[in-house]
Amino acid sequence: MPNEPSQMTIPKFRAMKAAGQKITMLTAYDYTMAGLLDATGVEGILVGDSMSMVVQGHPNTLPVTLDEMIYHAEMVGRAVHHALVVVDMPFPSFHLGVWKAIDNAGRILKETRCQAVKLEGGTDQAEVIAGLVSAGIPVMAHCGLRPQSVHQLGGYKVQRDEDKLLADAAAAEQAGAFAVVLECIPAPLAAKITAQLQIPTIGIGAGGGCDGQILVTNDLLGLTSGYVPRFVKAYADLQHTITDAVTRFRDDVRSSKFPTPEQTFK
Ligand code: KIV
Repeated sequence: MPNEPSQMTIPKFRAMKAAGQKITMLTAYDYTMAGLLDATGVEGILVGDSMSMVVQGHPNTLPVTLDEMIYHAEMVGRAVHHALVVVDMPFPSFHLGVWKAIDNAGRILKETRCQAVKLEGGTDQAEVIAGLVSAGIPVMAHCGLRPQSVHQLGGYKVQRDEDKLLADAAAAEQAGAFAVVLECIPAPLAAKITAQLQIPTIGIGAGGGCDGQILVTNDLLGLTSGYVPRFVKAYADLQHTITDAVTRFRDDVRSSKFPTPEQTFK
């Protein structure tokens, strides 16, 4: 089926960098939220493996499975008509060899309406990225803080190894990635990587010098309780809005103020 004229595509994503236009991305995990985000005109929606924490309540991104990612990506894909939808390859779906990575990413593209996959890695995943790209599967790489390696990294820390990060981003581009997420790295280094690459960089905790920005939607909407990373800006306080609405409903039910004749059939 041909793309709708307004649909974001991989070439348009790259063209935005060339034109100096900033790219906005957010995460979504279900139909309702994906539709709301898409209607705003954001360029990209990520079905992130952050779902493991945000939706499933796990302490990190490791437990979410490929089947679960596909189940949610299908809901998101059904709602989105404009944005480029990227789906995270969960741990360890791309660590089992190039053939298996193509098999797993192929399932994501075949079973959802999503257009691309994201995987954590740079130099170490260059062979896998190249294999996926040669199979016609667009890949967004993810360098810097790689949450799937939280145990190896010893926590969610700012990544400062300049030589490694420059090499990782360059290797991802060389292997054919169409964009790279830069997570939790110092702003000057992210700007340096961004200047070095032809493909767009999408920052999260990487400063304003990136070609685009991504946040976890629950963080942006003020839905996250407990620890919120310093790089998050909450643009709403939905936790309080929801608590207030539900409390008023509860009180109305208890005092028989709901339903009124307006909500009742005769
Ligand atoms: O899973 C996710 O939500 C992500 C973003 C934070 C980049 O990878």
